[in-house]
Amino acid sequence: MPRITYIEPSGNQTEIDLPEGWSLMQGATSNGVEGIEAECGGSCACATCHCYVESHADRLPAPSETELSMLDHVAAERRPNSRLSCQLKASADLDGMVVRLPICQS
Ligand code: FES
Repeated sequence: MPRITYIEPSGNQTEIDLPEGWSLMQGATSNGVEGIEAECGGSCACATCHCYVESHADRLPAPSETELSMLDHVAAERRPNSRLSCQLKASADLDGMVVRLPICQS
């Protein structure tokens, strides 16, 4: 299982082994990681699962048009490495990935 490190807004770091196919959002919300709201449950319709991809960005598929348009509505600063964590699926390629969670989601 790929191991993902989440850096919460407080700076606290949590490493989680995610089953392949799970989204990074699911991994966070299922393990009590702070900093993800995920109001729409992963439908790419709320932008409250915003994260900053700190590593492995070159191994991710490009964001869809829907994700790109939702990224226009994130509450915290949008950065070049901003993604929606519900759209990022765990795979062996992402083992060791680090994501940082923004200071606010809404
Ligand atoms: S959980 Fe709503 S956009 Fe990701």
